[in-house]
Amino acid sequence: MTETERFAVFGNPIKQSKSPTIHTLFAQQYAQQIQYRAVRVELDGFVQAATRFFEGGGAGLNVTVPFKQDAFELAHRHSERSLRAGAVNVLTRADDGLIDADNTDGIGLIRDVIANLGWSVQGLRVLLVGAGGAARGVLEPLLRERPKELLVVNRTSAKAAKLAAEFADIGLLEGGAYDLIGLRQFDLVINATSAGLSGAVPELPSSILTERSCCYDMVYGPEPTPFMRWSAHHAAWAVSDGLGMLVEQAAESFYIWRNLRPETRSVINQLREAMEAS
Ligand code: ATR
Repeated sequence: MTETERFAVFGNPIKQSKSPTIHTLFAQQYAQQIQYRAVRVELDGFVQAATRFFEGGGAGLNVTVPFKQDAFELAHRHSERSLRAGAVNVLTRADDGLIDADNTDGIGLIRDVIANLGWSVQGLRVLLVGAGGAARGVLEPLLRERPKELLVVNRTSAKAAKLAAEFADIGLLEGGAYDLIGLRQFDLVINATSAGLSGAVPELPSSILTERSCCYDMVYGPEPTPFMRWSAHHAAWAVSDGLGMLVEQAAESFYIWRNLRPETRSVINQLREAMEAS
């Protein structure tokens, strides 16, 4: 490679972004140099900022909250999985100058759950809590793992019902209000709500958990999230935050951009240590 390629993550807020660290560590594994910046974009400024970035020679963008829909609209071509997700977290300038869109969030979750944590999905009872962009982004890869049951519940029940209808061609799933849970129990519970950001926990009955249940929160932070604390309090077998998902979605982005698959475990460990030390 002759010149340093330029990448960035666009979001708002963006200050806490770990993506520059992650991508720099990935590049180092291959003794490569990349420039990767975290950019705070004004809420109404995504299209302009992204257009300027690519016109200025930028090679690829990661896109985070709240611009994943804007990124979808900006792109010229869409991967199958980004079409399904209806949201885009990776934009790439192709050789012909057009902008390609992809979504690596879903595969990021699946890799973390299966490869890193050693949990499984296939043949198990799965509860997905939330029906916003985060939930939508993981539904297809979850269904492709062929769980025995997949129930999507959401505070606004119509949104969960709509998701279930939209993904019904891929596999069996149900969606609706929390009431649908009844007395059912689940092997894997995934929190895709943003409730934790305001310190809240989705109102789930503790009867959903067995001594074999695994609980995954798609967000992460230096402290266990409220949902993780709730799960541990009710004796879930294993509990994880979404740091690994973040690193895995980044690894898949790196693969799209450079056709190389970085090693992720050491990067997750390094971030975890830095987070706990801060
Ligand atoms: P994201 O892109 O993170 O998914 P989003 O599209 O705004 O963000 O969706 C947020 C999700 O968290 C929604 O499912 C939302 O439920 P509603 O659709 O009923 O708004 C859910 N959520 C946010 N705060 C919540 C809370 N305190 N309890 C339960 N669900 C909550």
